[in-house]
Amino acid sequence: MKKDPCILAIESSCDDTSAAVYRGAQLLSHVISSQDMHALTGGVIPEVASRAHQESILPVVDAAVRDSGLTISDLDAIAYTKGPGLLGALIVGVSFAKTLALSLDIPCIAVHHMQAHILSNFIESPVPDFPFLNLTVSGGHTELVIVHDHLTMQRIGRTLDDAAGEAFDKIGKMMGLDYPAGPQMDRIALGGKAIYAFTEPDIADLDFSFSGLKTSVMRFLKRQIDQDPSFINDHLADLCASVQERICTILMHKTEKAMRQHELRHVALAGGVSANSRLRQLLVERAQAHGWTYYYPALSYCTDNAAMIGITAYYKYLRGEFAEITDTPDPRLAW
Ligand code: KG4
Ligand code: ZN
Repeated sequence: MKKDPCILAIESSCDDTSAAVYRGAQLLSHVISSQDMHALTGGVIPEVASRAHQESILPVVDAAVRDSGLTISDLDAIAYTKGPGLLGALIVGVSFAKTLALSLDIPCIAVHHMQAHILSNFIESPVPDFPFLNLTVSGGHTELVIVHDHLTMQRIGRTLDDAAGEAFDKIGKMMGLDYPAGPQMDRIALGGKAIYAFTEPDIADLDFSFSGLKTSVMRFLKRQIDQDPSFINDHLADLCASVQERICTILMHKTEKAMRQHELRHVALAGGVSANSRLRQLLVERAQAHGWTYYYPALSYCTDNAAMIGITAYYKYLRGEFAEITDTPDPRLAW
């Protein structure tokens, strides 16, 4: 086994087609093609996403290999996202990776998408010390995970209903924002104040719930619009700031509880919602108050990307964890 293997990584679990090339732990190239058409339908339509992956996977992989300065004959392994994700979308990446690996007679590495989000904190320095707590917040997941080493992770909390990103997207849609609403809400909230107090749900242990918030915002908006039809338009920045504040404080309160309960000193964020400016600001504030060290990925590695698949594959390669050629995608891949 090589110490510095050249690995091509492919991500196609949702609505981004992405490829990256690594030599050892060094990222040589990274290409992402995002599917903008989902803004028109207010969410990702799985069938449409699969077709778009089919169209872009070859050009994206081709560009990543070219940008890396390597040729495909230099590759030692090909990594792909096995799950969780949309089945039709995953199939495109997995089939492409396995076919290319077969033709080059090199092994494949199957990567867990959520584990990869966490390891996006290892793409660039400084990297977290072990053990650390990771708050993983994306469009499909909201989880608290203790990371013992690169590949040993223990989930200690999760959402009982909607994910944090889903809460941003669904509540944003009620306010007339396009999909995905999270980044827009973040931007618009900069011009507003969190003056509307939405209640924090009382959920046991280290679990989360966001469906109550969604319902209370919906009821609040309906009451206001009945009195003033242009309420949302006239108060959009304050509404965005208030919703964002509540989502972020729900996340941070559970993070603080988990850090205390498990006596941890290091904390990190990952996933699409870790790009949120208020969440990052709160993490810094709370970390400084408690004396924790804190980490979050660069903005380009928060949402879905193949660089995180590649760094995870590198650690799996070092352990000799290769996939069988009969391996198949798993939309509900467990931890
Ligand atoms: O990790 P990701 O790209 O895909 C999943 O694995 O789900 O996360 C996408 C989610 C979307 O819900 C999007 O609205 C949210 O991340 N998101 C944000 C921000 N950037 C992306 N939410 C809040 N603030 C942001 N700046
Ligand atoms: Zn993701």
